[in-house]
Amino acid sequence: ELSPTDIAKFVASRRAADFVEDGMRVGLGTGSTAAWLVKYLGRRVRDEGLKIRAVPTSTRTAELARQVGIEVISLDEAGWLDLTIDGADEFDPQLNLIKGGGGAHLQEKIVAAASDQMIVIADAAKDVATLGAFPLPLEVIRFGGASTRTLVERLLAEMDVDGRETSLRMAGGEPFLTDEGNHVLDLHLKRIGDVKALSLALNQIPGVVENGLFIGICDKVVIGFEDGRAELRD
Ligand code: A5P
Repeated sequence: ELSPTDIAKFVASRRAADFVEDGMRVGLGTGSTAAWLVKYLGRRVRDEGLKIRAVPTSTRTAELARQVGIEVISLDEAGWLDLTIDGADEFDPQLNLIKGGGGAHLQEKIVAAASDQMIVIADAAKDVATLGAFPLPLEVIRFGGASTRTLVERLLAEMDVDGRETSLRMAGGEPFLTDEGNHVLDLHLKRIGDVKALSLALNQIPGVVENGLFIGICDKVVIGFEDGRAELRD
C-alpha cells in the first residue's frame, strides 16, 4: 500500500513524465521521488515503446534505470540533454532549490545545467517561502577537510543566515562518500537571506566542490499532493 507521501511523489512523477517525448535525451534525478519517475518511464518504454536515452545523476539511479529497461548513456555521449527531471529538498517561489539531501547534487547540477529544461518533482512539504530550513549540502574534497570546514564557518559568520552550525555527513559510522569520492558538509542555516551571494561565496573556498543551491536552473516544479492532485508551477 502507498503512503500519502508516496502518492504525492507518484502523481508528481506521472505528470512530469508527460513532458518526455520520443527521441529525447533525458537527465534522471536521484532520490525517492526521482525513483518513482524512473519506474514510470520504464513502464512507458515497455508498454508504449517510448524511445529515450537517459543520463542518470548517480550510480543508484543508473542501476534502477537499467533494471526497468531504460537505455543509459553517459553525459558525454549525450553531449546535451533535452530535459532533466529531478527531485528537490526545498523549492522557493522563484523556483530556486536546495538539493543534495541524497548526496548527489554535484552530478545533478552538472546534468541539469547541460539540459534545455529542468523540471522538479516534489511533494507539497518541500514548498517553502525562504530556503534554508533544510540543511544545505556542500560537497568538499577529503584533503584538508578540517581547514576547509573552518573557512566555511568563517564565511557563514559574515553571511545573512540564521544558523551557522556545520556537520560532516556520516554513513554507517564513517564519513559519507559521494559518487565522486568526496565528503559532504551539511550547513544548518535555518534561513538563507541571499541565495546567490551565499552560493558564489561558498564555491570560492578552496576544497569546496559544489553547494546544493540551484539558482535560476529549474524551469518548472510539479507539486504532488497527498489527495492525488498534481499542480504545475512555472
Ligand atoms: C539527491 O542528492 C537530492 O538532491 C534529491 O533530489 C533530494 O534529496 C530529494 O530526494 P527525495 O525525493 O527522496 O525527497
